[in-house]
Amino acid sequence: MFAANTYTARRERLLKEVASGLIVLLGNREVGMNYHANPYHFRQDSTFLYFFGLQHAGLGALLDADSGEVTLFGDDLELDDIVWMGPHPTLIESAVRVGVKNTAAYAEMGKRVQAAKEAGRVVHFLPPYRYRNMYELQQWLGIPIEKQKQEASETLIRAVVAQRSIKSEEEVMEMEKALAITRAMHLAVMKGAKPGKTEAQLAAIAEGIALGMNGHLAYPAILTINGHILHNHDHSHALQTGQLVLGDFGAETDSCYAGDITRTFPVDGRFTEKQKEIYQIVLAAELVGIEACKPGVAYQDVHRKAARILAEGLAALGLMKGDLDEAVAQGAHALFFPHGLGHMIGLDVHDMEDLGEQYVGYSESIHRSDQFGTAYLRLGRELETGFVLTVEPGIYFIPELIDQWQAEKKFSDFIDYGKVAEYRGFTGVRIEDNVLITADGHRVLGPPIPKSVEEVEAYRNG
Ligand code: GLY
Ligand code: MN
Ligand code: MN
Repeated sequence: MFAANTYTARRERLLKEVASGLIVLLGNREVGMNYHANPYHFRQDSTFLYFFGLQHAGLGALLDADSGEVTLFGDDLELDDIVWMGPHPTLIESAVRVGVKNTAAYAEMGKRVQAAKEAGRVVHFLPPYRYRNMYELQQWLGIPIEKQKQEASETLIRAVVAQRSIKSEEEVMEMEKALAITRAMHLAVMKGAKPGKTEAQLAAIAEGIALGMNGHLAYPAILTINGHILHNHDHSHALQTGQLVLGDFGAETDSCYAGDITRTFPVDGRFTEKQKEIYQIVLAAELVGIEACKPGVAYQDVHRKAARILAEGLAALGLMKGDLDEAVAQGAHALFFPHGLGHMIGLDVHDMEDLGEQYVGYSESIHRSDQFGTAYLRLGRELETGFVLTVEPGIYFIPELIDQWQAEKKFSDFIDYGKVAEYRGFTGVRIEDNVLITADGHRVLGPPIPKSVEEVEAYRNG
């Protein structure tokens, strides 16, 4: 948590940019896993955290852009709650901690929103993603749940995105902390992997370290011998000699800033020649992608540049062929690289994804591609100083995708399906780092984690 004046300054800027109307910011509540009193790990809403820093369930806030008044809503614990949960800071103590002068009981919040609506004022709210908050907006504003996303305030979304996109020095320090934890997780997983160990045991190592360092997983860990399944959360396999392990996991700090790192390494101490060849291509694309990051460059172009490096490497192995500029322009590389090069990261691992990627990742002049693969690119817009983003190319051999494209003879001028057949069962390689855009270029955040073939093998054998 930062000092009160950080939150005060953020709210003042928000009030100024939204200029008029009533801003509603909803915190999150506990959510029961199988019954109410057995909840999931509590995670505060990231925008609420950004402007208020408070991590308790059941808070909300109104920011009046006409009067400048900010009010925090919540309820103090009663003695019965304290018996079970221990004492918590009172609402007033919490408000003082983050520079807010006005507080009121939570029930008051809905009444004030309703009164504002009845008085004909504009009520600004963000697209909700939790049903409890959708229910409240429906009760207070009479907007059906299915219409809330489209009726969310574009003015508010744009003002929040503008602020949260540019990371301050103190935010970058939190992200460095997240990456220090993330590094410890990756090192321990790499050290712990050997034939006979299970993916679940590696996932336990990763999560245990995050918890032990006062963090949490920033997202469910991908720790798998089936790295070609992009968001694979299955941990049911034992590692076998000759396989690759893909580990895509990161910590979020106690203040909820995320790290998002991927490393791919052999179960054995060394890569096979075939694994090494594919790995080197992905690494080259990652390094070229990172190198290209600087203010003013469109990330969509960085994505294409990395795709081009992948295509060149794949062509050198005989997997792709023909005019590679044309192949990449048409999207043939997406057989092997069917996702985007990266995304913004901050308080969310996919930062502000709840607010809408058209606002976060694209602009008036740069629109999302509808081409398979590049369509999944979450960030395409021009980079600005203070953005933090991921660079995460990969090469995957996805049997179902290969079979379909081959049956359709799709891009057969650019893909040698006979050669591709030799890689069936290869699985996948991804390498991912987190990068801050600086005035003169970029800085890779976090302490280094073994990445070159030599570093990975030395660490695996050391
Ligand atoms: N960890 C999910 C991603 O890299 O986007
Ligand atoms: Mn990742
Ligand atoms: Mn990522």
